[in-house]
Amino acid sequence: MFKKWRSRWRLGALLPLMIWLMTGCSQENLSTLIPAGPVAREQLWLMKFSLGVMLIVFVVVIAVFFYVLVKYRKRKGQTGIPEQVEGNHTLEIIWTVIPFIMLFVLAIPTIMYTFKFEKVYSASEAIQVKVTGHQFWWEFEYPQYGFTTGQDLYIPKGKQIQFELTSKDVIHSFWVPAIGGKRDNNPGLINKMTLLAEKEGVFKGKCAELCGPSHALMDFKVIVLDENDFNTWSQKMRAKPEPMDLSPLAAKGKELFTKNSCISCHAVGGNGGVLGPNLTNFADREMVASIRKNTTENVKAWIKDPNSIKPGNTMFKGYSPYPNFSDDDLDALAAYLESLHVYKK
Ligand code: CUA
Repeated sequence: MFKKWRSRWRLGALLPLMIWLMTGCSQENLSTLIPAGPVAREQLWLMKFSLGVMLIVFVVVIAVFFYVLVKYRKRKGQTGIPEQVEGNHTLEIIWTVIPFIMLFVLAIPTIMYTFKFEKVYSASEAIQVKVTGHQFWWEFEYPQYGFTTGQDLYIPKGKQIQFELTSKDVIHSFWVPAIGGKRDNNPGLINKMTLLAEKEGVFKGKCAELCGPSHALMDFKVIVLDENDFNTWSQKMRAKPEPMDLSPLAAKGKELFTKNSCISCHAVGGNGGVLGPNLTNFADREMVASIRKNTTENVKAWIKDPNSIKPGNTMFKGYSPYPNFSDDDLDALAAYLESLHVYKK
């Protein structure tokens, strides 16, 4: 008896774990259910409202179903087919009008919010950010500030952000579940979207459109700072900083970075190309290639063989044959990249 209860208790203890797993590990910064801004909150309200309406329909239909099942069941001594009713106008009108009303109830707030979220803010009302999707990374350009970042989108808390979304290659989709969204990045087109973050913190973003073999690895981060911190950060970025006092190893890395034409795709400070992510603040990033912790080992592994980490990425494809860096070279390159701080020290 005791054993039986103990095993039941254990099963019961598993339940919260299962719920936690089923709710996507309740990741606060990657959940539409824990909104961190007005767009996400209003979208969550729409979801709850639609779910509520559907729940009412469900309960009423099930109740009527069981009522009819019991009331008109076959009774003892009953033979033959029961009385057949057809062409009842009242009933037909009722079951046509009710779904109509339901659709209106669902449609009105949905359409209202759709138009509300379509509002486009001018340069004086909002911070403008051009978001370009690439296989498989994100470029964030701040035209009002005159700089570009890769992978990490910095925004100030409580400020309206106006996004212009486009793509350099295939269709991607920009999505920050906790703050709101999502919208496609189409090559040759510009889509607009606006968001506002109410909480400071780091929120996860994802590409939400199948865009190639590393689609599922095309993550990014939204870093929401308070306004003062954002101003400090943007001033530093605007100055296009490059580290001055490099260690001998990092200085060697910088030399390799230029010699191997890494710089023709990756800009650091004011110099370099735009084909790959801007690396000005590389060392501030929590992740390398958006999916691995930004550690020396991971940076080296990425430079050595990017295709094994993110199959089909353009760093690998655009560089043929891909250089065979020695361990010393990788140490030096990693040391250089890890010296590219802007915000964090
Ligand atoms: Cu980019 Cu999926």
